[in-house]
Amino acid sequence: MAKGPYIVRISSQKGGVGKTTIAVNLATVLSMLDYKVLLVDADYANPSVGFHLGLENVNRGFADIGAKRVDPKSVIVTHAPTGMHVIPGRVGGKVVYPSISQIEWQFKILREENYDFAIVDTAPGILPFVENVYLKNYDEAVIVTTPEMASCTSAIRLAHVYDTLGLKHSLVVNRMRNKRYEISIQEIEESYEGSVTGAVPEDEIVPLSIAEHIPAYLLNQRCGFSEGVSRASKRYAARVGGRYASKREGMSLWDRLLTVLGLRKRNRVLASVEKEEEE
Ligand SMILES: Nc1ncnc2c1ncn2[C@@H]1O[C@H](COP(=O)(O)OP(=O)(O)O)[C@@H](O)[C@H]1O
Ligand SMILES: [Mg+2]
Repeated sequence: MAKGPYIVRISSQKGGVGKTTIAVNLATVLSMLDYKVLLVDADYANPSVGFHLGLENVNRGFADIGAKRVDPKSVIVTHAPTGMHVIPGRVGGKVVYPSISQIEWQFKILREENYDFAIVDTAPGILPFVENVYLKNYDEAVIVTTPEMASCTSAIRLAHVYDTLGLKHSLVVNRMRNKRYEISIQEIEESYEGSVTGAVPEDEIVPLSIAEHIPAYLLNQRCGFSEGVSRASKRYAARVGGRYASKREGMSLWDRLLTVLGLRKRNRVLASVEKEEEE
């Protein structure tokens, strides 16, 4: 395997389509498959990875690496239930955007770290002249869309931008409800001129998981959402070769304990949902 992680940009042209949800759960599945994963929140204005993972109080982010030339280790935290490493966002205070040279520095650091995957969650769209310059640093861009006209046309426009920049891309369709008025996967594939890597249904587990700060995939691996994300994740896993590219290093006793506590919390949440459904 080539040195450095496979760097994936989770993107969309339109906001609110589920980038963060897909990024967090894709990273979760890859971690559970024993890949070494770094999840980065690069949505500087609206960071939200931390909310999904219970890391919202960390308040350090990717921009800190570029802006202050701090030791990257000081902004990386471990998500104990999965063992993945995370650079959450700076939720409070002034929004800081990195400059081009700072972005170059961030990617240099990412490449040096010993991960199989770096999953980078981004803001909608591309900042022209700033981000264009560094898109070449990514190995692949995942375009997330919902099965609606406005979202799909934006997704296809973004795909054309990636084409002109020579960046490999793939499409994940999120929040599918199988309604008559929805655009079908086949129609999306025809206009995208490529195949859809992931088809993920609308699922109540998602808002529940955000409220509980536990990735949906950890809450329930057998629901429609988790099955959709899991199928897509395995396709991305195939990009770096073997199914178990590199084993995670042994977890510390403390991390194991937190995992057990996390699972106990998960079971409590599921029990309360089931009870609500019965009532
Ligand atoms: N598959 C899904 N099923 C149900 N709700 C979803 C799903 N995907 C995303 N959402 C909801 O949509 C909202 C926006 O998702 P988010 O991941 O934050 O989008 P983005 O990062 O593109 O702005 C969130 O409140 C989330 O709960
Ligand atoms: Mg987001």
